[in-house]
Amino acid sequence: MIREFHDIPLRGRNSFGIEQRAAHLVECDTEEDVARFFAAGMPREWMVLGGGNNILFTRDYGGTLVVQRAADIRIAADEGDTVYVEADAGVEWDDLVAWAADRGLWGIENLSLIPGKAGAAPVQNIGAYGCEAKESIAAVRTYCPETRNTLVMDAAHCGFGYRESVFKHQLKGRAIITAVTLRLSRTPRPRLGYGDLARETEARGGATLHNIREAVCAIRRSKLPDPAVAGNAGSFFKNPVVAEHVAAALRMQHPDMPLYPAAEPGTAKLAAGWLIDRAGLKGYAEGPVGVHDRQALVLVNRGGATGAEVLAFARMVQQRVEERFGIRIDTEVNIV
Ligand code: EPU
Repeated sequence: MIREFHDIPLRGRNSFGIEQRAAHLVECDTEEDVARFFAAGMPREWMVLGGGNNILFTRDYGGTLVVQRAADIRIAADEGDTVYVEADAGVEWDDLVAWAADRGLWGIENLSLIPGKAGAAPVQNIGAYGCEAKESIAAVRTYCPETRNTLVMDAAHCGFGYRESVFKHQLKGRAIITAVTLRLSRTPRPRLGYGDLARETEARGGATLHNIREAVCAIRRSKLPDPAVAGNAGSFFKNPVVAEHVAAALRMQHPDMPLYPAAEPGTAKLAAGWLIDRAGLKGYAEGPVGVHDRQALVLVNRGGATGAEVLAFARMVQQRVEERFGIRIDTEVNIV
């Protein structure tokens, strides 16, 4: 079934709690509905809206927002140790993590409690606690409104990188992710190398799937603001990847600065949260917008902020970090 709405408020549809409106919003129950909607005529401007957890509306949206409601999880193939699980785009990501943990399937437990829909996971290759979705994604099913074709893309063709994929670039506005297939494993493979995860898991009795999931959830709850209390979109900025010599020079000046290996040789990843924190901005606020007081990567709507106010505040944060450290931090959130 297809449901259409006109001049609809978006406040309840974005985790930042921004009050903008969309000219048109279409809810599709199935992939066939998505195809049917586009076959009836291509909208002038359109975009997919998932859970609205990684988006900042800075204006009313004049086009069509496409929302997918299909939310089934199924086993696509069971090969003994390896199990392929297909989830529709509208599945709540954390429901999928819980589903896998309940069935003893390893691979995505470190990505517990990341807000958003399964269909959005490949777009920015969601990641946390030393894992990225790309490590478990086998294939991504897409519908292309221009060609009216469905295409199952192998992970190798998705251009996955740190918070990157082809869906943010070449295929932006061209492919709609309708389902994601994960490759999960029955063999335990705990990955506890990141931060406090090993300690928090041990405190719960050791490295079982459920203990790791609980530990990740506890760490996230302790650091990240609940959008129901203060509107936010998780990390507002990406951790900057810089040349190794730039990172080394900064490390000389700031021996306690966190530094992570990056995928590309000769580069290193810095912690934007640390840079913002050390620029003196953690907990800093101007009117309705602020830097979260427990995780400086997160900007919060303290009540009634407009998208334009959040954006202006974000620009100020970028400028202060650049003045202090000479490093440019880019936004992670999709700014519309
Ligand atoms: N740090 C500070 N001050 C802060 C925040 C961080 O000094 O206010 C330092 C920490 O002490 C640590 C380092 O910076 O040494 C990294 O911090 P953390 O482990 O909290 O992770 P992050 O790099 O800030 C990334 C992801 C998060 C994910 C965490 C945990 C990005 C953009 N963000 O944050 O993802 O939960 O790692 O793995 O890569 C999200 O994308 O919305 C998100 C929350």
